[in-house]
Amino acid sequence: MNKKRVSILALSLLGAIGCRHLAPSKPLSELTANEAAGHRIFVSQCSGCHYANTENGLHGPGLEGLFRKPYLASGAPANDDRVTAVILHGRSVMPAFGNTLSDQEAEELIAYLHTL
Ligand code: HEC
Repeated sequence: MNKKRVSILALSLLGAIGCRHLAPSKPLSELTANEAAGHRIFVSQCSGCHYANTENGLHGPGLEGLFRKPYLASGAPANDDRVTAVILHGRSVMPAFGNTLSDQEAEELIAYLHTL
């Protein structure tokens, strides 16, 4: 490989690493009724352990961009089925919410998580 190709490669690698910042989440003022209901559930049940507006961890991983990234913190695919399972059944020290949330509340929460 010549010198020019190496530096182009290095630059594109840097770009790929540097571009990790996500586009902003949907503003709270623009949430639908369903998403806003999910936000209220998040605040009461989840925000003690998870930040919604950053990828930085609190007790659990930050959830900004949860569904806009291909994988969850655990490496599992970021899809509704997987996230719903984590919420209903828990994961290591994260408690299960299967007995706390109704089916409708779980759906509202997922709708809100999609806005992050
Ligand atoms: C008592 C603290 C606590 C609460 C409350 C909590 N979590 Fe968690 N959560 C965690 C921890 C810790 C992890 C990391 C678990 C692990 O993989 O070791 C986690 C992981 C997750 C993950 C990533 C799962 C994966 O596969 O990587 C999601 C999504 C999540 N939580 C969503 C929620 C939602 C939504 C709520 C509210 C219903 C919630 N959590 C409430 C502590 C909590």
